[in-house]
Amino acid sequence: MSVLDIPELALVALVGVSGSGKSTFARRHFAPSQVLSSDAFRAMVADDENDQSASADAFDALHYVAGKRLRAGRLTVVDATNLQPHARAALVRVAREHDVLPVAVVLDVPEALAWERTDARADRTFGRQVLARMSRDLRRSYAQLAREGFRKVHVLRGVDEIEAAEIRYERLF
Ligand code: CTP
Ligand code: MG
Repeated sequence: MSVLDIPELALVALVGVSGSGKSTFARRHFAPSQVLSSDAFRAMVADDENDQSASADAFDALHYVAGKRLRAGRLTVVDATNLQPHARAALVRVAREHDVLPVAVVLDVPEALAWERTDARADRTFGRQVLARMSRDLRRSYAQLAREGFRKVHVLRGVDEIEAAEIRYERLF
């Protein structure tokens, strides 16, 4: 079992390619209201969770809500790929603005499995090359994550480790 220590008040950034199981992990370990997903925010602002042209507005709204939650002392999980340094920097910024610790949880599964899962989804229409790019971004992310300001970077490698993970909340006071 991998135990993930997470401060009881944290901004948790899930990091992983499409099909790595971020939304599944979020559903399993957190209450629905604790999870802010980029898909849900794209749907809110553009009626379509796959409308990439709505991403900027969707993330603005997501960061705004995250800030409101953190100000109220509520643990918040961001379910988005978070594969780009600028996406993660925005989350570290929101966390810092509210004196909350940012934590990253990386879900790393074999690219072939991520593709198999993604390809099977009617609501995911992008091609293999897009997933390959995400995988490259993930590999690049490892070196960067450590110095981006995350208090902790938990890495779950492979389906078994993801499956066995448990979250343990650390008391802040
Ligand atoms: N899945 C699975 N077994 C797991 C985890 C996920 O079969 N242990 C399946 C899910 O049911 C889903 C697909 O794989 O159909 C993708 O999982 P999801 O959690 O949605 O992955 P995400 O990382 O959230 O993908 P995206 O970035 O595209 O939202
Ligand atoms: Mg998802």
